[in-house]
Amino acid sequence: LGNGLGSTPPMGWNSWNHFNCIIDEKIIKETADALVSTGLAKLGYNYVNIDDCWAELDRDSKGSMVPKKSTFPSGMKALSDYVHSKGLKLGIYSDAGYLTCSKKMPGSLGFEEIDAKTFASWGIDYLKYDNCNNGGIKPTLRYPVMTRALMNAGRPIFLSMCEWGDMHPALWGYTVGNSWRTTNDISDNWDSMVSRADQNEVYAEYARPGGWNDPDMLEIGNGGMTKNEYIVHFSIWAISKAPLLIGCDVRNITKDTMEIIANKEVIALNQDKLGVQAKKVRMEGDWEVWSGPLSHYRIAVLLLNRGSVATPITAHWDDLGIAPTTSVRARDLWEHKTLSSTFKGNLTANIDSHGCKLFVLKA
Ligand code: GLA
Repeated sequence: LGNGLGSTPPMGWNSWNHFNCIIDEKIIKETADALVSTGLAKLGYNYVNIDDCWAELDRDSKGSMVPKKSTFPSGMKALSDYVHSKGLKLGIYSDAGYLTCSKKMPGSLGFEEIDAKTFASWGIDYLKYDNCNNGGIKPTLRYPVMTRALMNAGRPIFLSMCEWGDMHPALWGYTVGNSWRTTNDISDNWDSMVSRADQNEVYAEYARPGGWNDPDMLEIGNGGMTKNEYIVHFSIWAISKAPLLIGCDVRNITKDTMEIIANKEVIALNQDKLGVQAKKVRMEGDWEVWSGPLSHYRIAVLLLNRGSVATPITAHWDDLGIAPTTSVRARDLWEHKTLSSTFKGNLTANIDSHGCKLFVLKA
């Protein structure tokens, strides 16, 4: 969307994957504090996004949404002032339907103008716009109404379309939103994670600065996968130029989780200014090679083992679009080292079960 936002994939945190509907202003403020104190904010994680369940079921007499008195008693303006004072941005959630997915709060269908103005007046920077309870009206008739309302609201607001990929939003989303979901909801396990990655990969060529494919938010730190599996999760999201929205409790983050989501080199890969999403370039049984171009004539390569035993995986230059005689240096983004040998024609590495290696290649 040409609103000047999302020139690289958005980074931040969202309440849903860890807290579901059990949220309040204290959690949001403490999360903002934790993003700063852990150093995650400095690394680029700057959106603090409230998901479903923040509003009263009933609108006020003027038709505006009302923050839930029991959980957000200070209101959203005070909360955005707080989050902004930390150098962060505040995101909120609504639905292109009559009720949100939880059915605990109203949707914005038919109230786009007033809601966009309300969000802008509260200092909101990001809207996740969901798709439940939509009366069977086509998304292409519902989402652009909010796009126009936000464009007229007097404040730049990132629009994250949460249409779950049903009507292939990648094909029409670029003029409507800054990102669009290509999948239904992720859950915190390997099969769910890799299948979101697969569904998202299909639309690789539609991603670009200003509009990104969204395979859903990160589960790293929520406990359902091994450390290797979470490294795969972060690596695929990074190389796929997916939004990096942390989904765990940042207030109680572990060292292992920090080692993954605070990897500067992997973040830099995701935030590369070329903004091209990687694709699978080879699939052989349980192993895959994913690759895509980066700025300064570099190439990102992911060697991924989906199987249950360790295996050597080879990236061939002809799959990567490198001339066969070119010798290449390889930077390993998880080991944080440039390999001492140069490579010609191919690069092979041994990869653990449910593991990966992530390289940046440069001639
Ligand atoms: C849908 C979305 C989720 C989350 C929930 C909230 O399922 O896809 O990401 O926002 O609604 O109810």
